Amino acid sequence: SNDMSSNETLMVIAHRGAAGEAPENTLAAFALGLEQGCTGIELDVHLSKDGEIIVCHDTTLNRTTDRQGAIGNLTVEEIKQADAGSWFHERFAGERVPLLEEVFDLVPPEVQINVEIKAGNDGIAPALVELMKRKDRLNDVFVSSFDFDILERLKELEPEARIGLLYHIRMTHHDRMAGLLDYPVYSLHPHWSRMDKRSVSEAIERGLRVYPWTVNEEANMLNMIDCGVSGIITDYPGRLKRLLER
Ligand code: G3P
Ligand code: MG
Repeated sequence: SNDMSSNETLMVIAHRGAAGEAPENTLAAFALGLEQGCTGIELDVHLSKDGEIIVCHDTTLNRTTDRQGAIGNLTVEEIKQADAGSWFHERFAGERVPLLEEVFDLVPPEVQINVEIKAGNDGIAPALVELMKRKDRLNDVFVSSFDFDILERLKELEPEARIGLLYHIRMTHHDRMAGLLDYPVYSLHPHWSRMDKRSVSEAIERGLRVYPWTVNEEANMLNMIDCGVSGIITDYPGRLKRLLER
């Protein structure tokens, strides 16, 4: 049926890796997502004191490691001393906070990577463009942010970079907001609770992809599929895969 064929192309995006079952934003979480058959990976980035792109959700190491401190005030050497696994479960002891480069090396190019730039990292665009080019990842990465200025800076530096807009607002506003940017937008990233079928189909007709976050319950996954989204960002990529196979 038509439903089946659209399900087959729906991107299964592991949120911070398979963050429901492994410590978020670690190589273990990304590897588990890949094992479960995800076709996309979402991760969050910050810039370290010495200008490296660090994969971590929060501005500080406090919640997800055994160390303290703001990533922007720490060097890679200092960040690498932190244990990013034990807080989740002792069997992940010794997991490190990864560099984006290490994730690029782990993830095969057929799996898309959604790099989310966190606010407060105004200087990150040149480093990200350099890394995507050096690792030949321009065509299988899409970069999202709640901070649209950062995305415009990225496009200014590298017009081929694909940018996605993150929102908390109702999806009926998304298209209009995308039209306010100085550069073409690749994807819209609405919160799953602020969506409607009509807005999704209008966005898709205009050539935009729609990737809702963070969809963990089966009923909500089914609802998103019914809306016709391009992919689903979830802490449980294995659960979504099983649902699509049914
Ligand atoms: O990129 C989608 C989602 O990750 C945005 O929220 O806080 O989980 O990074 P957050
Ligand atoms: Mg995120």
